[in-house]
Amino acid sequence: MKALAILLFALLSLRSFQGLDNGLARTPPMGWLSWERFRCLTDCQKFPNECISETLFKRTADKMVSDGYLAAGYEYIIIDDCWSDKSGRDSDNRLKADPIRFPNGIKPLADYVHNLGLQLGIYGDYGTLTCGGYPGSLDYLELDAQTFAEWGVDYLKLDGCYVSTEGMEEGYALMAQYLNNTGRPIAFSCSFPAYKGLEANYSMAVEHCNLWRNYGDIDDSWEDVRDIATWFADNQDFLRPFAGPGHWNDPDMLIIGNFGLSLEQSKSQMTMWAIMASPLIMSVDLDTIKPEFKAILQNEHAIRINQDPLGVPGKLVSKDSSIMVWSKPLQSSGTSEELALGLVSNRTDGYLYPYDVSLANYIQSTSGDYKVIDVFDSDNEINERSFKYSDNITVRIPPTGAVLLLISSL
Ligand SMILES: *[C@@H]1O[C@H](CO)[C@@H](O)[C@H](O)[C@H]1NC(C)=O
Ligand SMILES: *[C@@H]1O[C@H](CO)[C@@H](O)[C@H](O)[C@H]1NC(C)=O
Ligand SMILES: *[C@@H]1O[C@H](CO)[C@@H](O)[C@H](O)[C@H]1NC(C)=O
Ligand SMILES: *[C@@H]1O[C@H](CO)[C@@H](O)[C@H](O)[C@H]1NC(C)=O
Repeated sequence: MKALAILLFALLSLRSFQGLDNGLARTPPMGWLSWERFRCLTDCQKFPNECISETLFKRTADKMVSDGYLAAGYEYIIIDDCWSDKSGRDSDNRLKADPIRFPNGIKPLADYVHNLGLQLGIYGDYGTLTCGGYPGSLDYLELDAQTFAEWGVDYLKLDGCYVSTEGMEEGYALMAQYLNNTGRPIAFSCSFPAYKGLEANYSMAVEHCNLWRNYGDIDDSWEDVRDIATWFADNQDFLRPFAGPGHWNDPDMLIIGNFGLSLEQSKSQMTMWAIMASPLIMSVDLDTIKPEFKAILQNEHAIRINQDPLGVPGKLVSKDSSIMVWSKPLQSSGTSEELALGLVSNRTDGYLYPYDVSLANYIQSTSGDYKVIDVFDSDNEINERSFKYSDNITVRIPPTGAVLLLISSL
């Protein structure tokens, strides 16, 4: 009964939308995208291992499989901007890959990643040019949808540079229709909300997109992660109702494992992205990532929280003492109750800040026992105990770090 009541509450508290019906992204998409880490590096003479090329995507695909990312759930490998021939389309007006960097074109690369059990994503732009100045799709939406489908593409990120924001929603809707017409299920990542801001028609995003960027690009710093999370928290009452199975808000890539985030800040990003039910799209060099960062990206509990089938994005519930408390309800079975609590420190005073979590503030039931998993610390003694609703759990949170708790009734 209780679980049912919680489920009903979760459902009623969200307006319901008729989402895109292509069967994809029932949980937030997981994968790898080249942009944040590799940008538009095209000089393969100077940077053979890092330039946007077949080599980069093949070596990353290999690692996604051999190092456990695919097994953890990361299935899409997505080519971002700067893959195509900058000099223009071919004689049939089709997009074509850069002949030096992708000498075999995109189709053999799609076959390669499919053979590994992965899915291939690609990037396009709704305007006349991509943000990096490569050919855009404005007058070729239908042809490009067909080309991508023929190549075996499974995911399209369609950017919005070099075009008026007027009528963008209708343009993206048209592209969604062209993708659908190909008969190939292609996850559709839209960008118009990021270009139009909160004035964008979000119900059209839900109707035509599997995910959409809402806000600016992420760069490699903690300030960026905090700024993005703060913007999503400030606008959560507006944004959350639009997300759910098949259609997600996208605060942009995980930058974990790169240059800008400490280990503790990486736990903070993983915590907030897991709780917001954000797509988990890494952008990192999988050949050089250090094991402790890889462990955060592959943390099974954090991924389970993110991928919970109920698909209700969590929210910021308090920020006393500069500790942000984020909470996400999880799908329960029978009379059980399960939720995730993320405690993210916005403090910089350099000790492990002690914070009392009063379970009664977050759980519905006043009886029964609870098990608590400290997601990033399997040695924490709280993992061995059981708690009552009236108990407090004291956690210690590092400066700009996070503690993520998975709380389940026993
Ligand atoms: C196309 O749209 C229809 C109706 O919404 C849906 O049933 C079908 O699965 C879609 N097909 C693809 C390939 O997206
Ligand atoms: C947003 O799009 C929907 C169609 O999905 C339409 O019914 C609605 O009127 C639009 N809202 C605005 C403010 O244009
Ligand atoms: C975190 O701290 C920064 C810098 O002091 C501030 O701008 C931001 O609003 C804070 N965020 C939250 C959620 O408290
Ligand atoms: C639990 O923590 C709260 C502060 O969050 C405090 O007011 C309360 O006294 C604590 N209860 C116990 C039993 O320690």
